[in-house]
Amino acid sequence: MSTVTNPTVAVVGATGAVGTTMIEILTSRRFPVKDLRLMASSRSAGRVVPTAWGDVVVEDLATADPAGIDIALFSAGGSRSKEYAPKFAEAGAVVVDNSSAWRQDPKVPLVVAQVNDAAIRDHQGIVANPNCTTMVLMMAAGPLHEAAGLTRMTATSYQSVSGSGQTGMEVLEHELDVLGKDRDLLATGGWSDPNSDLYARPIGYNVLPHAGSFTEAGYTDEEWKLVHETRKILEADGILVEPTCVRVPVMVGHGIAATMWFSRPVGVAEAKQILGDAPGAQLWGDAKVPTPLDSAGIDDVLIGRVRETVGEPGGISLWTVGDNLRKGAALNAVQLAELLLD
Ligand code: A2P
Repeated sequence: MSTVTNPTVAVVGATGAVGTTMIEILTSRRFPVKDLRLMASSRSAGRVVPTAWGDVVVEDLATADPAGIDIALFSAGGSRSKEYAPKFAEAGAVVVDNSSAWRQDPKVPLVVAQVNDAAIRDHQGIVANPNCTTMVLMMAAGPLHEAAGLTRMTATSYQSVSGSGQTGMEVLEHELDVLGKDRDLLATGGWSDPNSDLYARPIGYNVLPHAGSFTEAGYTDEEWKLVHETRKILEADGILVEPTCVRVPVMVGHGIAATMWFSRPVGVAEAKQILGDAPGAQLWGDAKVPTPLDSAGIDDVLIGRVRETVGEPGGISLWTVGDNLRKGAALNAVQLAELLLD
């Protein structure tokens, strides 16, 4: 793998929820940026963004010249990644792509920093950042898998609206405002649907057992990502995953309630020891359970409610929650970029 010392870095999707977090994290981690380039749609082109590397004018991705870029962090949606990531890679950049466009391509490593770092060595110009829910779950599942070999897992996500970008947060704020005015009707029926375009049903004061789009066998694409990405990251095609992805009225922070079984029984003391030592994670006790609000704005993924299974013995149930914009997206992308440095 070729590495760089003082790279020119591009953030593609720089005006979005993840893109702006990428710029913040490049800054706070003192990433050795030689030159920063910011790209978004023609709607944002020309906007000036003050950064630690000076004022940067946003470029239109459609007309931007990728020559000279060493590392490009993409978070502008799957279709942009499909079209532009190969062009950037051909021009010499290593693309760290936050969309789902390349994650299942066998030539593209899918890497959770601090879980399967070594996989990045095989990149051919594009590296994929996993799905935000999968990423948070892997911070707990990865170390347990390493110790005991994960064989089966049920996982139910509680995903915040920022997983749908800036628009998700705007929709939640709007719906809380509109529906909050009908407070009594929320309890007795007769509330008016705010009819936001983004989600099929209201998210304000509600829970949607529908994250992503329905695809095969009655599962959503978000749910299939949990299945396929878990197997690819942990390099174990046989892991059985039973996923349910739920959208909740939370701004930032994706939580996952998971139950896991392994190639041998794992007790709670061993699981807590492994999770307590897991890099990038904090194990919290039952006195203060970790919530999305606790995870928002921090780098570590929080793990709690660790307990032995009471139905079929030998497994571990736990709760894990992480900032989907940080570890779930921008932080991991920057950590992967750090692995590309000399
Ligand atoms: P823009 O702000 O110009 O629309 P989010 O997921 O928070 O909505 O952010 C999506 C990011 O992807 C934004 O930076 C957005 O830019 C960018 N984006 C959306 N559509 C395009 C496009 N057609 N070309 C380039 N960037 C795009």
